[in-house]
Amino acid sequence: MKKLIAGNWKMNGQSSDAILLCRAVRLGTKEITHVDWLVCPPSIHIPLVNDIPKGGQDCSIYGEGAHTGDVSAVMLRDMMCDYCLCGHSERRQNHGEDNETVRNKAEQIINAQMTAIICVGETLDERESGNAFNVVERQIRESMPQSATSDTVVIAYEPVWAIGTGKAATTCDVEKMHNQIRELLKSLVASGEHMRIIYGGSVKPSNASELLNLDNVNGALIGGASLNADDFIAIGQAVKS
Ligand code: PGA
Repeated sequence: MKKLIAGNWKMNGQSSDAILLCRAVRLGTKEITHVDWLVCPPSIHIPLVNDIPKGGQDCSIYGEGAHTGDVSAVMLRDMMCDYCLCGHSERRQNHGEDNETVRNKAEQIINAQMTAIICVGETLDERESGNAFNVVERQIRESMPQSATSDTVVIAYEPVWAIGTGKAATTCDVEKMHNQIRELLKSLVASGEHMRIIYGGSVKPSNASELLNLDNVNGALIGGASLNADDFIAIGQAVKS
C-alpha cells in the first residue's frame, strides 16, 4: 500500500498563504508519485486549494440544518475533499470531544463518500503509567464506525505529548504501538490488515526516514512541518519507493 503523507495546516495563515503553499506543494510533489499526498487547510481556505488531494480538519456531527458555525461532511465533499480528520487531540482536549462524538463524525465522513482519518493517542501521564496501548485501544474501539473498512478509515496514531513539541516518539515506541494497533484492527475490521495506520507528532525531514519506513507505519500526519513546502515534500521523499 502507498504511504499517505498528510499535512494538517491547522488554524494558520491568510488566504494568500494558502494559495502560495498549495502552489509550492503542488509543483514540488508532481513527480513524486510513490506516496499519496494530502493537505488539510482551514475549512475557509479549502476552495483556494486545488489540483492536489485535500481534506477537512474536522466536521460537524450533524447533517444539514440549523447548526450555526458548523461545516458538514457533505459540504466538504462538495468542495472536493477526499478525506476529513476527526478526533484530533486538539479537538478532544479543547472542545471536549469524546469517542462517541468522534465516531459520529467518522460516520458523517464515510456517508459523505470521504475517508475518515480517526486520530488517537495517549497523554504523557497515560504513557508514563504504562497505559498507552489501553488508552489507544479504547479510543479505536469506541471511535470506529461499524461500517469501517480499509477504504473508508485511516487511523492516525498521534501521542499527545509529541504533537507540536518537537519531540517525536522513538522509532521503537512507534513500531511497538503500530504493531499492536495492527493486531487490534485485524480483530475488529474484516479488512483490518490493509487499513492504513499513520503516525503524527513532530514528524520532520530529520526523523522522517526512520519513522516512515517501519512496516506498519503507512504514512504520516504532519502539523508544523507541513506549513513549509520544502519540509513537507522532503518528508514524502524520505519514504523508500
Ligand atoms: P506536529 O502536529 O507535526 O506539529 O507535531 C501533528 C498533528 O497535530 O497532526
